Formats: sequence, C-alpha cells, structure tokens
Amino acid sequence: MADQSANPLRRTLSDGIVPQEVVARTEKSWLMVMAAMLVVMMAIIVVTGIMGALHPASNVEVIDPLTLHLQGEFVESNLGTAAEPDGSVTVRIVAEQYNFVPRCVRVPANTPVKFRLTSADAVHGFLLPNTNVNTMVVPGFVSEVRTSFAAPGEYAMPCNEFCGLGHHAMWAHVSAVQQDQFQNLTSVERARCAAQ
Ligand code: CUA
Repeated sequence: MADQSANPLRRTLSDGIVPQEVVARTEKSWLMVMAAMLVVMMAIIVVTGIMGALHPASNVEVIDPLTLHLQGEFVESNLGTAAEPDGSVTVRIVAEQYNFVPRCVRVPANTPVKFRLTSADAVHGFLLPNTNVNTMVVPGFVSEVRTSFAAPGEYAMPCNEFCGLGHHAMWAHVSAVQQDQFQNLTSVERARCAAQ
C-alpha cells in the first residue's frame, strides 16, 4: 500500500495535515510581508534621519574646531559682545574644557541679543535659566540662540552637558546693564567683564 511506503515523505497524508508545498508557499508569502515591512521601516529611518534628525535641527553652520583660534569669526580678539548697526548685539563665545571664553560678557538690557557659540573640544551645553536660551554646543558646529534681557543684572549660565571631570565648574556669566550705560563703555569693556 502507498500509505506504507518506506519513504515517509511519500506516504499519503491523513486528513487535517497540510501538505508540505502549501506550507512552503504560505511561509514564502509571510516572508515577503516581513521583508516588505523591514524595507519600509529602513526607508523611514533613512528618510527621517536625512531630512531632520541626524544634524542640528536649525541654523546648521559648520566650522573647523581645530582652527578656531587661528582664523575666522571665533579668533580671540573677536570674542565677547559686539554691537550691530541695527542696535542689537552679537555675543561670540567659545566653550572648551572647562571654561567659556570669555567667561563673562556684558550686554545691554531690553536689547535683542544673539549668542553665537562653538566648542573647541567636547560637547558642551549653554543654559540660561528661565529663558529660551538652552543649546548644545557641539564641536564642528555654530550654535545660535537669540534672547533679550528684560532687566539689568548678573546672569549665570552653566554648562548643562556633562563634558568631563570639570563639568560642574564650567559657568558663563552675563552682566546685563542699562542701555545708556552700555553705550558709554569702551569696546573692550563691552566685550567682556572681569566679574567671575
Ligand atoms: Cu562643559 Cu559641561
């Protein structure tokens, strides 16, 4: 009898058992579905990564962290607060382990302030409590944040990204003064303040 064939694969299947070819075809279909899902998910990861998530979300500006002190916007003589023709000010700061350069800057109160920061080494953070200022400072990129100081005063700005053993001691200070007082300062006095 065929049912008693020596080769078990040749024996007639009893009722309820799905033939091997049908099983193989069904598995193949499900494999195609799985492969399609993987392709779709990989595509989503690649597209969203390229379109928005793999680089800073706004104001993408690159800079060579190795030549900050030699050329360009972040040479030492250009750091600190600079007045702009439209009445606003731009503050340029370099973050490095474990310091902000300059450590203290002076700005006029009630004036648009644009901070431009970059890092010479590790990833640092720049945070001004109770304001919109909170940015990572990443080597190779320029971080830009805009704010305004409603009242004169001393503002402490801690590094809020763990950057190494001296992270806890890394602070920047901003001294906001009245606008007319700011106008009377020399460019050197405007650029940085001695207070620590
Ligand atoms: Cu710089 Cu933490």
